[in-house]
Amino acid sequence: MNVADSEVVASILSDSGYKLTDTINNAELILINTCSIRENAEQRVWGRLDFIKNLKRKKPEIVVGVIGCMAERLKEKLIETDKLVDIVVGPDAYRGLPLLVAEAESGNKGVNVLLSREETYADISPVRMDKNGVTSFISIMRGCNNMCAYCVVPYVRGAERSRNPESIINEATDLFEKGYREVTLIGQNVDSYIWKNDIQTIRFPELLEKVALVNPKLRVRFSTSHPKDLSDELLLTMIRYENICRHIHLPAQSGSSRILKLMNREYTREWYMDRITAIKKIIPDCSISTDMITGFCTETEEDHEESLSLMEWAEFDFAYMFKYSERPGTKAARKYKDDVSEEIKALRLNEIISLQNRLSARSKKTDVGTIQEVLIEGTSKRSASQLYGRNSQNKVVVFPKGDSVKGEYIRVFIEKSTSATLIGKNI
Ligand code: 5AD
Ligand code: SF4
Repeated sequence: MNVADSEVVASILSDSGYKLTDTINNAELILINTCSIRENAEQRVWGRLDFIKNLKRKKPEIVVGVIGCMAERLKEKLIETDKLVDIVVGPDAYRGLPLLVAEAESGNKGVNVLLSREETYADISPVRMDKNGVTSFISIMRGCNNMCAYCVVPYVRGAERSRNPESIINEATDLFEKGYREVTLIGQNVDSYIWKNDIQTIRFPELLEKVALVNPKLRVRFSTSHPKDLSDELLLTMIRYENICRHIHLPAQSGSSRILKLMNREYTREWYMDRITAIKKIIPDCSISTDMITGFCTETEEDHEESLSLMEWAEFDFAYMFKYSERPGTKAARKYKDDVSEEIKALRLNEIISLQNRLSARSKKTDVGTIQEVLIEGTSKRSASQLYGRNSQNKVVVFPKGDSVKGEYIRVFIEKSTSATLIGKNI
């Protein structure tokens, strides 16, 4: 989400004559794009601001801005308590950046954190900041209408709005023509994508199909799906196109129906299991990943056991796992007590991480001895003589360089695996 937003910001500023630099010491304008989802994300930003304070001491004319979710949440604190920041711009106000930067250059601090019901930046062609030139994100919607009790997103990114499908298809086509071979359609809840005009209504399965039709050599991924909205129709669309990747990220958050109710997730453990069963039945080779939170308010040992048993049952291929961190202003912060101690949260987090490590290793092991089609993304970080890419299931595959180059599809025989990687040779 944040990469996609930074790319929109880079595009808006480059239209006003700004250029990106790789070296922070050369910068005349420094913008920090921020996330408020968990407290430690915000902590990192304060640390970064400390570092920038030193730069500004040496070069007072540089303009420093904080953009994104934290700007939305902490506008006053950023501008007032810490004199370092010149501009504060929320996620729906990026078009105003050139004006605010110009104002800041003449000494006036500026804030714009107004949220919008319409802004999707549909007409802006993002300036790609990824370095591989093979895979890219396309933002298809902004904001979120769900009210998960722990989550700050609806407050800092506003209400859900979907982007014009034509602009999405154009962006995918343009990326393909520039050599990109994979796009990931992103939104907080892609299943609730909806675009209406006088003649038609386009929902997510149809949009996905349209992007898949851009070119059979363009892989299409998407994230994030919400279990309450994941439809069989979407799964049936996925199997009709080989270039729609066999991977679904379906955050469970907890395996306990009682906790899910408190979290306001609008599904039960049984509903979640039904959706997993549907995925496995309709797309047997689909990989499934999830997000889990440990230590949400009132979580007991039994609730935690239910999270572990759900993970074991679902055999997730991958998971992002977090300790619950209370976010100011959310329903959980207002109504519930953050009553699971830090020690218990950490203990439970360790337990789910070690379980997931086992599940991830098992999932990789099943691919040993098979042939996988891999889209090459670049040279492996560990060894210059190895390339890496991913298979349709989003598993990372490493193999010897040979004659292949990034952006190509290659068939790799998998010889061994670790919990994170498949290792093989080209055939
Ligand atoms: N504490 C911990 N994890 C959170 N997430 C969102 N809000 C919080 C919070 N307050 C996690 C959820 C979500 C992912 C993006 O971040 O698991 O799916
Ligand atoms: Fe947050 Fe829930 Fe929306 Fe995801 S679906 S962004 S967790 S409110």
